[in-house]
Amino acid sequence: MTKRFAVIGHPIEHSRSPQLHEAGFSEFNIDATFEKIDVAPEELKDFIEHEAQHFMGIAVTVPHKEMVFPYVDNVTEAAEHIGAVNTLFWKDGKLHGTNTDGIGALRALETLTTMEEKNVLVLGAGGAARSIIYALKKAQAKVFVYNRTYSKVEALFNEFDIIPLNSLQTCSPEEFDVIINSTSVGLKSFKSILPEDFWRPTHIGFDIVYDPLYTKFLEDCENAGGQVITGDKMLVHQAAAQFKLWHEKDIEPEILEAAFFSE
Ligand code: ATR
Repeated sequence: MTKRFAVIGHPIEHSRSPQLHEAGFSEFNIDATFEKIDVAPEELKDFIEHEAQHFMGIAVTVPHKEMVFPYVDNVTEAAEHIGAVNTLFWKDGKLHGTNTDGIGALRALETLTTMEEKNVLVLGAGGAARSIIYALKKAQAKVFVYNRTYSKVEALFNEFDIIPLNSLQTCSPEEFDVIINSTSVGLKSFKSILPEDFWRPTHIGFDIVYDPLYTKFLEDCENAGGQVITGDKMLVHQAAAQFKLWHEKDIEPEILEAAFFSE
């Protein structure tokens, strides 16, 4: 019987989850479909209670990642700490919620180096930052966080073992091995959250923004001689983690990467 999967969000048209997962179905000859379903916030409870049972797995995107918590039977430690669910799966007849965003970011970073003992500067303190910080701490990195609104960094400090920064001017760029933009600055614009002169040849720059793929943040890093990781890598690796969870199969990130650029 054909297995059904879906991604739910509102809006949902932009989601690339179907094309990534369909590439995996082809690769492993899995008889399955992957639907995009627009679920308005007021429809979420009803969808989970009456429709979710028809799907073997569901990817959850904006604005439902936090809202879905009350409707699942169990959440994993990752989802609990990150405070967001991006993946639903069934186990022993119960609906479980987990989060593969953090592991996606970590796997993307690990394509260049291990994170253990690395000094990592995370710019931003929103939902994406939380998932990245969670994974970095699991990988035993030393995490520094800077955000425009400092109170959000303080809130993160109460939950994660991070070093809060209230200014970038007081720290020397050489302190950091990796710098991550987890804000939306640079999305559809040629702006960077970081001054150009902050970059050093020793830096690895990673941007969660993938539209454009080569953001000003990454261009500045590369111009200074640093190495870069583009935002599509996080998406591809988080989808690979979902794929593993739903199908118990390791998919080559390159296959998902090719699917990301198809259309
Ligand atoms: P997401 O879930 O994608 O992380 P979010 O929770 O809305 O989205 O977080 C957006 C992040 O981008 C925040 O850290 C935000 O900073 P504030 O907490 O100060 O709002 C950051 N951000 C967005 N626009 C920004 C800008 N123009 N300058 C600096 N930071 C910005």
